[in-house]
Amino acid sequence: MSGAARPAHIPVLLHESIDLLSPERGGLFVDCTMGAGGHSMALLQRLPEGAELLCLDRDGRAHEAAQRAPWADDRRVRLVRAAFGDLLEVLGDRCGQVTGLLADLGPSSMQLDEEGRGFSFQRDEPLKMVMDGDQEADAATWLNEVSEAELADVLYQLGEERQARRVAGAIARARPLERTGELAEVICRSLNRWPRPGKKHPATQCFMAIRMAVNDEMGQLDRLMAGLETALAPGGIAGLISFHGLEHRRVRRWVRKVCTDDYGPKELARRQPLVPASFDNLTRRGLRPSPEEVDRNPRSRSAQLRGVRRRG
Ligand SMILES: C[S@@+](CC[C@H](N)C(=O)[O-])C[C@H]1O[C@@H](n2cnc3c(N)ncnc32)[C@H](O)[C@@H]1O
Repeated sequence: MSGAARPAHIPVLLHESIDLLSPERGGLFVDCTMGAGGHSMALLQRLPEGAELLCLDRDGRAHEAAQRAPWADDRRVRLVRAAFGDLLEVLGDRCGQVTGLLADLGPSSMQLDEEGRGFSFQRDEPLKMVMDGDQEADAATWLNEVSEAELADVLYQLGEERQARRVAGAIARARPLERTGELAEVICRSLNRWPRPGKKHPATQCFMAIRMAVNDEMGQLDRLMAGLETALAPGGIAGLISFHGLEHRRVRRWVRKVCTDDYGPKELARRQPLVPASFDNLTRRGLRPSPEEVDRNPRSRSAQLRGVRRRG
């Protein structure tokens, strides 16, 4: 980044998520999405001596910043550059020992706002959008290679863009696309809607969908959730903070599934579940930020925190 200050990331649902994890219990904690370390630092403040905090992030820039930050010198902290979809490989023989785990999904403010990361239509720059800076397939490569039909599906399913086919057709005709400005313009022209002060930019949904596809965000989330029963110790707690419709639905469905006893017809009569629930739901319909938090940090407005505790 140029000489400008690094954009700050304000941690979302901070007290709610740390209270949920109760770090005072000690043991092995994992922050799956370290970012600027806001949640990690708050966890550390309440972790007893002898506890451990494993901080994951797939973004090399987040790790560079953490290595310079005093909190990461704490001997309870271990920084690991990895994707949380690979959690079980990262844990290795410590699977089944995690007492508390947090995943604060989506990109950080630094990724969205820093010059040169190519996530945003706010400035014209090379179209990158990769969280892991070493990933070869950036947004320009992906957009220039994906089929028009798959692109339309991504815009519709991940971006909930109702005009997905029309936008995908316009992008396909405009290829090759290399810059955020070009992409924003093609999208606006195909929708015949243009940025207006105080209104959501017309390309917002499509940019989000492309970012999610390039970073396989839903695949990562599915792999994380699928591994939680193996990763957590009995009584271990996981908190997931999601930010938009598709993530909310995915997390909600998973929570419902793992927190519900599964009965076959015979078991129902005997009131004996075929597959008993493996988790307890700690947050019912999810916790949302207070109006004060949304005032202070408008990016928190769509956040939802869901928490589960492994039975055992
Ligand atoms: C919303 S930010 C987290 C902010 C952090 N809680 C804080 O307080 O500063 C999400 C972070 O998770 C990282 N991330 C997103 N998906 C990831 C994944 N699948 N594996 C590892 N890190 C991921 C991003 O690189 C980003 O730094």
